[in-house]
Amino acid sequence: MRSMTTGGLPPGIFHPFSPRGRVDPYPAYRWLQEHAPLYLDNFSRLWLVTSYPGCSVVLRDQRFSAALAQRRRVRDEALPSSMLTTDPPEHGRLRGPGTLLLGPAALHSQTPLIEAEIGKLLAGLGTRTGEDADAIADIGEPLAVAVLSSLLRIDPADRTAFAGLARRASVNLDPLAGAEAGAAGRRAVGELTSWLDPHVTAVSRAEPDSPLARLAADPRLTRQEMLGILSLVVVGGYAPLTEFTGNALGRLLSRPDARPGEPVLAGLGLTDPGRAETAVDELLRLDGPIPFIARVATCDIELAGGRVPAGAQVLAVLAAANRDPDVFADPDRADLSRAPNPHLAMGAGPHFCLAAPLIRRAGAIALRGLAGRFPRARAIDPVQRWAPALLPRKLTAFGIRLN
Ligand code: HEM
Repeated sequence: MRSMTTGGLPPGIFHPFSPRGRVDPYPAYRWLQEHAPLYLDNFSRLWLVTSYPGCSVVLRDQRFSAALAQRRRVRDEALPSSMLTTDPPEHGRLRGPGTLLLGPAALHSQTPLIEAEIGKLLAGLGTRTGEDADAIADIGEPLAVAVLSSLLRIDPADRTAFAGLARRASVNLDPLAGAEAGAAGRRAVGELTSWLDPHVTAVSRAEPDSPLARLAADPRLTRQEMLGILSLVVVGGYAPLTEFTGNALGRLLSRPDARPGEPVLAGLGLTDPGRAETAVDELLRLDGPIPFIARVATCDIELAGGRVPAGAQVLAVLAAANRDPDVFADPDRADLSRAPNPHLAMGAGPHFCLAAPLIRRAGAIALRGLAGRFPRARAIDPVQRWAPALLPRKLTAFGIRLN
């Protein structure tokens, strides 16, 4: 039966937001997909949409509002406006200038810099020969800092301060963050914006042709709007990129069947550029750091499985849609050459991640670089330990023996 239900999950299947369910939400998602692809969740009072077609509609149909979802979250506090929290047509006005920083032309001109930054990071890891590294602290977080620092032209001397602000502001990603955490996160965004403001002025003077300076000079934006886009880039980019790297390395290297000393990374064919690119998408599909996206229905809307009433808060559960067996063959298995791979890990529709080409490029460069430099890399302990966090979805830690 595939219909709307408000009944609970059956015994033995943990609610996806409960401590056990957060660690492994997939049995609950599969049950919901099979029995209630549109589900009014008594625990959160949110409507969970778990089928691929249902999530596609929620993300693409403009009767589902991103702006109202944000307003619900922060209640009556002042809202920093950004493209992520506005609906068309206002959204388009902000997204257009955003492409000056993240669009194809900017990516093309920035690729050598990003490649050089990732190369430096991997070379630094290489000097730890014989030592172990943590996939998140030693690779994911430095990678996110390197990529964002290339885009935003942050000098090495300022990166620790930048990373601290980015880390604190990242709580804004989580639509289910409690009131206190949410307020602290919004304060951190204020600090981040004040930090970025003089930085942008300095970069505009020193490098007027850089993508950042071009965004800053765009006459379609007020200064506050420009800074709002930059803080969205940091909040939307820092933790997802950090945790995605950890999740991806965890998935690639956790091979309990590997023989002691077996060069696990070398066996995956990731030095091939085409394979590295399809691998990034497959790793995003299986373990994307953003498992769901919130919207509010602006009117009654029919979806597969029932009707969402006007005013309902809806979660498009990307992590479930990305394993919908009606769309992905053998959905729980990693197939690093899977193509086509129409996953929703970077969203879809008007808010589709503006940095998707950047993530694919940087991800493939990092995978190729890691596989080329550290072919013998393998897990110290192949068990993936998921943090009981909702968003981003992340591992607690993942130790790697590099050489
Ligand atoms: C693996 C890492 C990432 C993942 C999985 C990811 C995922 C997503 C998703 C799912 C959305 C859509 C949100 C919605 O519809 O409400 C989004 C939007 C966005 N992302 Fe990413 N993202 C990642 C990294 C980044 C990075 C590194 C940047 C910037 C450098 C970035 C910038 C943005 C922006 C600006 C938007 C808003 C687009 C809009 O509203 O039009 N993201 N991202």
